[in-house]
Amino acid sequence: MSDPVVIRGGTVAEASWCAPADVFVVDGRVTALAEPGTPAPRGTAEIDAGGMLVLPGGVDPHCHVGFTSGDFTSLDDYAQCTTAAVFGGTTTIVDFAIPRPGQAPADAAHAQRAKAAGGLCDSALHACVVDWDETVPDQLRSLVADGMPTVKMFTTYRGETMADEDTILRTMSTLRDLGGMVVIHCEANHIIEDTQTRCSHDGRIGAEHMAATRPELAETASVAEVLAIAESLKAPVYFVHQSTPEAVELVAAARRRGLAAYTESVAHHLVLDDGLYAGAAPERFVCCPPLRPRPVVDGLARHLATGEITTIGSDHCCYDVAQKESRRSDVRAMPNGLPGVETRLPVIFSEFVAGGALPVSRFVELTAANPARTNGLYPRKGTLMPGADADIAIWDPSARWTITSGDLHMATDYTPYEGMTVTGRPRTVLVGGRVVVHDGVLADATPRGRHLAANPITPAPARR
Ligand code: URP
Ligand code: ZN
Ligand code: ZN
Ligand code: ZN
Repeated sequence: MSDPVVIRGGTVAEASWCAPADVFVVDGRVTALAEPGTPAPRGTAEIDAGGMLVLPGGVDPHCHVGFTSGDFTSLDDYAQCTTAAVFGGTTTIVDFAIPRPGQAPADAAHAQRAKAAGGLCDSALHACVVDWDETVPDQLRSLVADGMPTVKMFTTYRGETMADEDTILRTMSTLRDLGGMVVIHCEANHIIEDTQTRCSHDGRIGAEHMAATRPELAETASVAEVLAIAESLKAPVYFVHQSTPEAVELVAAARRRGLAAYTESVAHHLVLDDGLYAGAAPERFVCCPPLRPRPVVDGLARHLATGEITTIGSDHCCYDVAQKESRRSDVRAMPNGLPGVETRLPVIFSEFVAGGALPVSRFVELTAANPARTNGLYPRKGTLMPGADADIAIWDPSARWTITSGDLHMATDYTPYEGMTVTGRPRTVLVGGRVVVHDGVLADATPRGRHLAANPITPAPARR
């Protein structure tokens, strides 16, 4: 049980409103949002939030913890990843249970779920299906019943996690009837492998050629295919890390036709561009899909304000420089992915809220409320309405600071945002009503993380 707390003098920002209010917390939950100055019962601790925004803690819908792919395992565990998350204002992560070749999805999920207790904040899990067999429907049924209704699939990474169209269709169909949802990485593998082969023949397969090896049209083609499957099934579907306006617009058009289809973009695709592959350390930016040309990045970002992007994740993958450099001469063998759980909120706030393009409520919607909704965690997470868990980021909207890896807490030795000066950062972060971070210092390192059993996802539209 945590002591009663009132957070006074701040401006509360929810996904649909923003106003001065005091936030009362008892036993780890928000009990009231009250007029500023409302008296507090004796024994209530006060936190001064004058001049601050008071936000629901961020919910990162796409975060890989200790992720093994190919010859590489990303370097963090739950304690390390969630410590970094909390320093960055994120208080819930959604991790992935990716089976190793031959491992059953349910076994992978149960093994990963057992790690949640090591976290400083709560977490949920996406399960993952790679191959279809007659045991999968029962596994999916028990996963949904156990609070894991979202299932990650990939149309790329042959021999690791790639699923064929039959498997995608069967998994989607089964989950639709269970109240679950496929969350999917779309890049047409045949186009990518062919492009990589041609690049390799031309001696252009090193990290500096990353963007050319995974073309935009591979993403467009795969999104169109998966949308067609979802539409024919009338099944909900969530596209992870969409990196181009074309891909986002395909999903938006399907949504206008009545499909429950969602777009996630990740911070690095909204901010960084492929010019970084021409720089001194291109390997540090190798991720899938790759960083795109500046006009594509700007076109993608314009969809934040229009509402066509549903969520912003980090796609956090904590590899270090040595891992990144070890295979830099061949992107086919490199560890893909960028560290970002700690920088997601500050970078997006600075670029788009401080930059004037987005209202703070839309920021909350994209980074907390919608990730909670699409993952069956709302209204426990992603809001400060009474009854919600008291996971709160007290955010200084005018703090200017320069991102440098030595000051961050992720289990790696670099950040893709090194040297970027940003505006806005969390000053105090509460998890379950307890102050965990204050003024850049870890105030409470006790692992109290829980695995969150997610509710079934919004039912798919009625079948027509
Ligand atoms: O490059 C990436 N995104 N690595 C992590 C695995 C994935 O595809 O999400
Ligand atoms: Zn992916
Ligand atoms: Zn558009
Ligand atoms: Zn990912």
